Amino acid sequence: MQRGHWGSRIGFILAATGSAVGLGNVWKFPYTAGNSGGGAFLIVYLAIVLTIGVSVMLSEFAVGRAAERSPVSAYKKLKGGAWPLAGFVGVIASVAILSFYSVVGGWTIAYIIKSAGGLLSTSDAESLGGLFGGFISGAVEPIVYHAVFMALTMGVVLAGVHKGIERTCEVLLPMLFLILVILAVRAVTLPGAMEGVAFYLVPDFSKINGEVLNAALGQAFFSLSLGMGAMITYGSYLSHKENLPQAAIIVTLADMSVAILAGLIILPAVFAFGFDPTEGPGLVFITLPAVFGQMPAGVFFAMLFFLLLTIAALTSSVSLLEVVISYLIDEKKMNRRPAALLSGGFIFFVGIACSLSMGIWGDIKFIGDRNLFDSLDYLSSNILLPLGGIAVSLFVGWVILPRATQEATSNGAHPFAWVKAWQFICRFVAPIAIAWILYSGI
Ligand code: PHE
Repeated sequence: MQRGHWGSRIGFILAATGSAVGLGNVWKFPYTAGNSGGGAFLIVYLAIVLTIGVSVMLSEFAVGRAAERSPVSAYKKLKGGAWPLAGFVGVIASVAILSFYSVVGGWTIAYIIKSAGGLLSTSDAESLGGLFGGFISGAVEPIVYHAVFMALTMGVVLAGVHKGIERTCEVLLPMLFLILVILAVRAVTLPGAMEGVAFYLVPDFSKINGEVLNAALGQAFFSLSLGMGAMITYGSYLSHKENLPQAAIIVTLADMSVAILAGLIILPAVFAFGFDPTEGPGLVFITLPAVFGQMPAGVFFAMLFFLLLTIAALTSSVSLLEVVISYLIDEKKMNRRPAALLSGGFIFFVGIACSLSMGIWGDIKFIGDRNLFDSLDYLSSNILLPLGGIAVSLFVGWVILPRATQEATSNGAHPFAWVKAWQFICRFVAPIAIAWILYSGI
């Protein structure tokens, strides 16, 4: 079967950035930073992203392009043995992530509508918190929005790699970035915001412990879309002329900047309005409307923001679904349409349970004290993705190093200065550091 291909070089970079930039940056990053000590978390996060993150991303691109297959088939083609299992864990992780991701995607759609209706036009912490809590714990409304989000995801994926995914990112990402800059300026100039800026930017090294490390590692993998084969899949649609190391750097830096900016909006606002930084998943949905409430044309900006966030979430959810679908296409010989309907339908049902676990099913606990939503998040981000990262690093570093290096440099056409560092990180740093952090966090 003919594989889809990216339309252009910038198209691929945008699509990969579209996968990376999403709810992970704007929704998850600020509350994870808030929960895990602010500045201490930030510094560990940046260190991981700039060493392990960028290296694993390059490895995934190289594996994907070398094999021109989705993850399971790629491991099979390049080596076989037990390696395809690593790809399969990624498929499981995609299903787990998309199940709760789509629920949050639904929340963002709901918030476009709620802000348009003027429901959020207040800076009163308590009423915004009550509104959010009431909404997500409902048994119907959030599930309807989850259905809409999942349907949109399936729609884009069905439109195919080039037309669906690439074009969406070209317009949207620059706009999202711009609006985040405007919001950051507003947030840091709010009275009382400086305390939040300090909390976020001044690291207190004594706060760094196993949990903070584990949170930063999980966040890095989640945010960069690593460890579950999304970047292998996207790399597999790539032409052999692309400069992979450069693409990995651009995508990593873009993703990192959006996350840093999001933190610079949310955390100062949290302090300015007297919210609690350890509030959890509601943080963005409660604090941001409060910031908008303090701005001229707040309703307009709120709508625009949630619209952009929805689209950013879509360009990520699409890459999650694409991993499952390309697995079904390559391994189970299914056609794209039935593969999309089957996987999308299944994920939709798991997502319903996730949504209900924010309300009536909240007392059912899975991992530790976590409901289904938090358990799937924890299991995927903090365990499965890092394991996938160890696997791809070991695979590149020890099993196919010459082949992978050839691929990463495009047969010498794109040599890069940090090739030795990359190899060293794949062979030693990434597997050991990730294993150690996983061990100390659990
Ligand atoms: N990186 C995406 C985000 O930050 C989420 C994602 C994770 C997408 C893993 C694909 C794979 O929102």
